[in-house]
Amino acid sequence: MEKLFRYLEREYRKKTAKSAALFRRASRVMVRGGSHSLRLWKPYPFFPVSAAGAEVSDVDGNRYLDYWQGHYANILGHNPEVIRRAVEPHFQHGTFHTGFETLSQVELAERLLASLGRRGLKVRFTTSGTLASTYAVMLAMGYTGRQRVLKVGGGWHGASPYLLKGVKFQPGAGFRAADSAGVPPEFSRQVLITRFNDCQHLSDVFQKHGRKLAAFILEPFIGVGGFLFCSRQYLELARQLCDRYGVVLIFDEIISGFRFCASGLQKLYGLSPDISLFGKLIGGGQAVAAVVGKAEIMEGCEPSGLKHRRVHFEGGTFSSHEEYMRAGLAMLDYLEKNQHRVYPYLGQQAEKLRRGIERVFREEGLEAVCTGDGHELVPDSSFFMVNFPRKKIDYRQPEDLWNPERSNVTLREEVLKLALLLNGVHVVHGGGCLSTAHTPEDVDRTIQAYAEAARIFRRFL
Ligand SMILES: Cc1ncc(COP(=O)(O)O)c(C=O)c1O
Repeated sequence: MEKLFRYLEREYRKKTAKSAALFRRASRVMVRGGSHSLRLWKPYPFFPVSAAGAEVSDVDGNRYLDYWQGHYANILGHNPEVIRRAVEPHFQHGTFHTGFETLSQVELAERLLASLGRRGLKVRFTTSGTLASTYAVMLAMGYTGRQRVLKVGGGWHGASPYLLKGVKFQPGAGFRAADSAGVPPEFSRQVLITRFNDCQHLSDVFQKHGRKLAAFILEPFIGVGGFLFCSRQYLELARQLCDRYGVVLIFDEIISGFRFCASGLQKLYGLSPDISLFGKLIGGGQAVAAVVGKAEIMEGCEPSGLKHRRVHFEGGTFSSHEEYMRAGLAMLDYLEKNQHRVYPYLGQQAEKLRRGIERVFREEGLEAVCTGDGHELVPDSSFFMVNFPRKKIDYRQPEDLWNPERSNVTLREEVLKLALLLNGVHVVHGGGCLSTAHTPEDVDRTIQAYAEAARIFRRFL
C-alpha cells in the first residue's frame, strides 16, 4: 500500500503545485495548516477558488465533483441560486450583525416546530452542532439533577467536552476510550458507552446505571460511525427505557435532520425524543444549530431556572444572525415545497452510485461494500461510504468500519481519497452525500472515477 500511496502522491503533487505552495504558507501560521483535520488530508489539501452546484475548482485549475458538500450541509449543492436569491435582498438593508433578537429567527423556529408536528416544544438557536450538543447535555443534567451521560460507541456529536469519549476506534479499547486531552478525567468517567443498535446491551446498561443517567444521546442515523440507520426496535426501546428511568432522550439530528424527509428522521420513525439537535443544512449554508426540546426542559434556560439550577445556555454573539436565519428559512422552504422530488431523486442517484461503485471494484477483483443503504422506513438515503472488508462482514456496527482488523481503514481514508482526486472527485471517508446539484451524468462520471481508482489499486495491491 505504501508504494501505491507514494505513486498517488507524486501524481497529485504534479496537479496541485499552487495548492502545495499555499499549504506551506498556511503551515507557517496555522496548526497543521488549517482549522479542521477532516479537511487536511495527506499530503495536503487543495485550495478552492470557487464552488458551484456539484463542483469545486481549485487554484491550479482542477475541477472536482464534490461529495463532501460542506460537511453534508449543502443538500442543494454549493451556493444554490434559490438560497442566494432569498438572502440577497436582505443585503440591501444590511445583514451585518446587529446583536438583536430577530423576527427571522421566530420564523425559523416556527418552521422547525411545524415540520416536527408536535406540541409543547421550544427552540433555542446557537451557531454550531458542538454547542448544541453541549447545551443539550447541560439541560439534561439541570433537569434531572444527574451527572452521567450515555452515548453510542462511534457516535460523534462535535467536540463537546461532555461527549469526547468513544468517538475514535482505538486498538485494544475499541470505542470505549476518552478521545481528547484537555477534558477533566471526571467528565470522561461520567460518560458511559453503549453499542450501536444493540438492544440487549442498551437494556443491560439501563438496568445497571439507568437511575444515574441524565441523558442518552444518539444519532438515529449514525454519521461518521458509518452511515447506518438505527432499527425502529432499538429507538423504541431507547424511548421506553428513558421513560422508565427518567432519562432525557436526545436525538442528534445534525446530520439526519431534513436529509431524509422535510423534517427530522424521527418523523419517519414516528418517535418523539425529549430534545432534538439540528444543524448543518438548517442554516442553508450558514452557521445555525438548534436545540429543540420539551418546554419544561428548555425552561432551564430561564434566569429563574428549573426546579434545579439555571442552565447557562446563551446562543452566542452570532446566534440568530439575520442572514443565517434567512438562508435557513429559504432552505427549509425549498425542501418543504419540493420534498416529493428531492428525496426520491437523491435516494435513487445514491443507490445507483452505491451499487455502481461495488460493481467496478468487483470487476477488478476487489471487494468494496457501500454503507448508507436505506431500509423499509427510510427507503431513500443520499449517503454512501465505501469500505474494504478484510473478511466477510455485514457492516452493521461502527466497529465493522473502523476496526482496522475488519476493514482496510487506511485504504478508504487516505489512499482512495487521493486516487479519486486524481480523477476529479472529492470524497471524505471514501464517499459522502449526494446533493440535488449532482446530475445523473455526474453520478456516471463518479462511477467511472471509482473504476479508474480500482484499476490503479489493482496494479499495486
Ligand atoms: C451528528 C453530529 N453531531 C454534531 C456535530 C457537530 O457539529 P459542528 O461541526 O457544527 O460543531 C456533527 C458534525 O459533523 C455531527 O455530524
